[in-house]
Amino acid sequence: MYNSKITGLGYYVPDNIVTNDDLSKIMDTNDEWIQERTGIKERRWIKEGSDDTSAVMGAKASRIAIERAGLTAEDIDFIVFATLSPDYYFPGCGVQIQDMLGLRTVGAVDIRNQCSGFVYAMSVADQFIKTGMYKNILVIGSEYHSGGLDKTTRGRSVSVIFGDGAGAAVLSRTEDNSKGILSSHLHSEGKHAEELTVIAPSIRHWVPEILKENDENDESYFPYMNGTFVFKHAVVRFSQAINEGLQANNLKVSDIDMLIPHQANLRIAQFIQKKFNLSDDQLFNNIQKYGNTTAASVIIALTEAWEKGKIKENDLVVLAAFGSGFTWGSVIMRW
Ligand code: UT7
Repeated sequence: MYNSKITGLGYYVPDNIVTNDDLSKIMDTNDEWIQERTGIKERRWIKEGSDDTSAVMGAKASRIAIERAGLTAEDIDFIVFATLSPDYYFPGCGVQIQDMLGLRTVGAVDIRNQCSGFVYAMSVADQFIKTGMYKNILVIGSEYHSGGLDKTTRGRSVSVIFGDGAGAAVLSRTEDNSKGILSSHLHSEGKHAEELTVIAPSIRHWVPEILKENDENDESYFPYMNGTFVFKHAVVRFSQAINEGLQANNLKVSDIDMLIPHQANLRIAQFIQKKFNLSDDQLFNNIQKYGNTTAASVIIALTEAWEKGKIKENDLVVLAAFGSGFTWGSVIMRW
């Protein structure tokens, strides 16, 4: 049996910085509210006219990750792409990556697990490597939120939170079983599906029906979030996911060298930090700069933490996420 290990990391965010003050010019909000409730100072939103999409940003991040892994397109055996904002309703973004990067006709799968998307994607890729089926898998998280947000006061409780961006990891086979992904833990609770969702378009709310209604008050095609409800579940599920991973490996909280929590809200991350008594060096946040980039958030944060030299050989790295579905999970890695 093999283990899988990250051999390359990369991220890409659009150049266009949107500050809280910028938002206060288009909706009734302010820097103080946003920073106090979420910790966010600014986010990146793709500028109108840009060629960036979820797939394009994913490809940009992937090129960096593949190069840093010391590999070429030829070496990639499989693609796992996590996003809730795909370029097309179908097909998924994974197949676009195969084309954009000129990969062999390798398999590609999209993961639809929102904020937990990257944790799920890593777990899926890990299984293919552990069984010996593939050697090098490209794992991508990418989101283009800004095109689909309600940027009026009506949508302010959701739209100020989300940002655009992408990250990618190359997961490679290793024969050293003490290194790489030690375990992953995935969960879902579908009864809360409509607490954080986009209702339309979907098979039940198809486009012609929406156009026929032509109702400017129709909010069903904007993300809806029951923020307080989601927040309460997030703090509980984050803790459970981390504890479950540690217990499965006979590890303690004090063994964690770096926790990368999904960047949903700085207050959630701070709650977790306090609860687990983690020092500032034991966890990494960058929501201040990028907002919540959903499936991209964990991989962008992991890449930045690594680039800043905060992750070293042999470190115990924990990825944890919670989000729409609800879904949540963790990945425990020995670097
Ligand atoms: O990533 C997936 C998982 N997501 C999460 O984990 C997010 C979890 N939830 C949250 O992070 C928080 O619930 C939010 C940041 C979304 C909202 O914070 P909150 O402290 O729960 O605020 P709230 O929704 O209870 O709203 C408080 C007040 C309301 O006004 P009233 O009714 O008290 O007069 C809102 O209308 O703040 C108002 N408000 C705003 N004011 C200024 C809501 N959005 C804004 C805004 N600017 N952008």
